[in-house]
Amino acid sequence: MRYASVTDRLAGLGGAKWALHYRARAMKAAGHEIIELTIGEPDVPTPARLIEAATRSMASGRTGYSNGRGEPGVVAALAARYSARRGREFARDQIMCLPGTQTVLYAVLRAMAEAGDEVLIGDPMYATYEGLIAQTGAVAVRVPLRPEHGFRMNVADVAARITPRSRVLFLNTPHNPTGAVLRPDDIRALGALAREHDLWILSDEVYEDLVFPNVPFTSPLDLPDLAERTVVASSISKSHAAPGFRSGWCVGPADFCTRLLPLSETMLFGSQPFIGDLTELAGSMSARPVCPVRTSPKASSTATRWP
Ligand SMILES: Cc1ncc(COP(=O)(O)O)c(C=O)c1O
Repeated sequence: MRYASVTDRLAGLGGAKWALHYRARAMKAAGHEIIELTIGEPDVPTPARLIEAATRSMASGRTGYSNGRGEPGVVAALAARYSARRGREFARDQIMCLPGTQTVLYAVLRAMAEAGDEVLIGDPMYATYEGLIAQTGAVAVRVPLRPEHGFRMNVADVAARITPRSRVLFLNTPHNPTGAVLRPDDIRALGALAREHDLWILSDEVYEDLVFPNVPFTSPLDLPDLAERTVVASSISKSHAAPGFRSGWCVGPADFCTRLLPLSETMLFGSQPFIGDLTELAGSMSARPVCPVRTSPKASSTATRWP
């Protein structure tokens, strides 16, 4: 049979890393001392309040179809949260909920890039980015993240790789795997470059809440002059140790979200309302930044303080 070319572009980008991961898990189960550096699975439990909220919500009948943009309560909570954190007003039509950052990145990139385009991306990068870019048909242009620059993306390194085909500047801050957090100056410089070359800025901020108190988190959403070109992706997976709930969102221009909605609806036709309900609660719980800290390698989950 003949397959669509996307299956060729993604061939080899799925199974191998999971095989390695499950091999490590099997070795751990067999008693080997394994330090797991494969997936970003939080090593603290999901807060009981969230599990209770989901259970209550399901029991109360919140199991029907839901709003394709996200349930009104969670969209409002996210708009309020981003307005408070980013210091400018975000409206509800600037938010779209999708199941996890991964799905957000998939859909958002689909709306930004296609065959013939180039996506500028830091190298090293999170494992799924290669496939996320390849599924669009665009080419990933790797920007080295240099240790001498603290693994933060350097504007000169990006500028040297811009071509007429450049379409998206894909950021990840705090960064997986290096942990680098972009500074306000980095974001200003990268933002100016994006404006000069009319690039989208896609920023994966799923680790926003996992910063140390002396490392302030900043986002391209902070800068009003980048508002028309910036889309941020995030979720409750890391901030609330809840990756299994698959609850994420993007924040961006209202027009972008409007165009994204049919794309999302063709894939999903909405998400689970009870997940929306617990995400709404999570939004209020993470109103102040949370940084789960393990005091020692053997420390139990009691080392974590949830607000
Ligand atoms: C940088 C980065 N982005 C996205 C994801 C996926 O997050 P989510 O569970 O919200 O899909 C991960 C998970 O490890 C990640 O490390």
